Amino acid sequence: MRYEEQIALIRRAMALIAHGGSERGAVAESPIERYLDPLRFQREVDTIFRQYPLALCPAATLPNVGDSFAIDVAGLPIVAVRADDGKIKAFVNACRHRGARLKPAGLSSQRVFVCPYHSWTYGLDGALRGRPHSSDFEHAPAADCALARVPVAEALGFVWVVPRVLQQGESAALDIDAWLGRFGADLRSFGYDAWVPFHERQFSNAANWKIPFEGNLETYHFQYAHRESIAPLFYDNLLMADHDRQHQRIFLPKRTLESLCDQPEDTWRVGPHSNIIYFFFPATFILHEGDHANVFTVLPEAPGRSRVFGTTLVPEAPKTEKAVNYWQRNVESFWGALDEDFALGVSAQSTFSSGANRSLYFGATEWCSAKFHSDVEAALEPPDPPSGAVTGVASKLV
Ligand code: FES
Ligand SMILES: [Fe+2]
Repeated sequence: MRYEEQIALIRRAMALIAHGGSERGAVAESPIERYLDPLRFQREVDTIFRQYPLALCPAATLPNVGDSFAIDVAGLPIVAVRADDGKIKAFVNACRHRGARLKPAGLSSQRVFVCPYHSWTYGLDGALRGRPHSSDFEHAPAADCALARVPVAEALGFVWVVPRVLQQGESAALDIDAWLGRFGADLRSFGYDAWVPFHERQFSNAANWKIPFEGNLETYHFQYAHRESIAPLFYDNLLMADHDRQHQRIFLPKRTLESLCDQPEDTWRVGPHSNIIYFFFPATFILHEGDHANVFTVLPEAPGRSRVFGTTLVPEAPKTEKAVNYWQRNVESFWGALDEDFALGVSAQSTFSSGANRSLYFGATEWCSAKFHSDVEAALEPPDPPSGAVTGVASKLV
């Protein structure tokens, strides 16, 4: 992050701390159907999750040609692979013969994809390379039987995909820098492109995919939900936010920030005295903690169920036991607090069908959660495109 921007953020925080204030925005209500309605859920998958990039897995988990990672993303089976040219490619994990999955979920490594059903074989570029008794398939020319492609890019230490099937002639390239915008540039300046995963975790979350973001885009809950964990580090109900389109950057000053008052301004840095949340619409969350980052992506599975993929990124693989222990403590602290958030989200989801609430209320310091909802609503009802226009962010980005 530029030095001038760090100083501006610190000054902004000091002004709020001096008056016990917070930045505030528009209040909102969120109708309960948003968390329960299966038709609405399907519209979110079709309209939002098929349009925007998501952080899929750390790029460093695919270091060598042939390394691949298979996962279902919002109902679309995807396999990402480091291809012969060293670049990441992503395909629908479905054989073009009769649809069997080429790879089981998770990591693997191979020089070609071989379907377990009848052994159709694909190169790492997705082209059909061979099939037994090929002359029986004159009606299915090899050129028409390449794996279906998915838009993909590598950035900030992650493989990003838009979980949708590309049509013939569409480019698979994603202009991810344009999409990540000024906040992506922040993270790049911290060195994220070279950071590596230290810890990974995935789990099923019995709550709608939006709930973790509601909870993590406000600090109103800190002193209560995190009383026994991270609350003492932060100010009560203090939130500062900047937005770039649907993306959000939330600055959380730590109580140590006040110590900077006694130090020359040219020594001020945000790193040790803040946490910074970077939220990339629709479902990628990065908590920048100065010398490392905790990242999670929430994937929708059903109105009341989602899957969370979490990664802790560090600048380099630890070389000593002391370094391992240091990062391990950070991982435990992060997930200790986040588990409190996820448990409360599950608790809330479990009451939604009771009829007690027709809608949820977001107060003035929860305005970033409210903005997230209004961005979801806007994405669900995009303006009618001019006739002949190509719709979808991925298409606009190629
Ligand atoms: S389904 Fe893959 S080879 Fe038949
Ligand atoms: Fe929290």
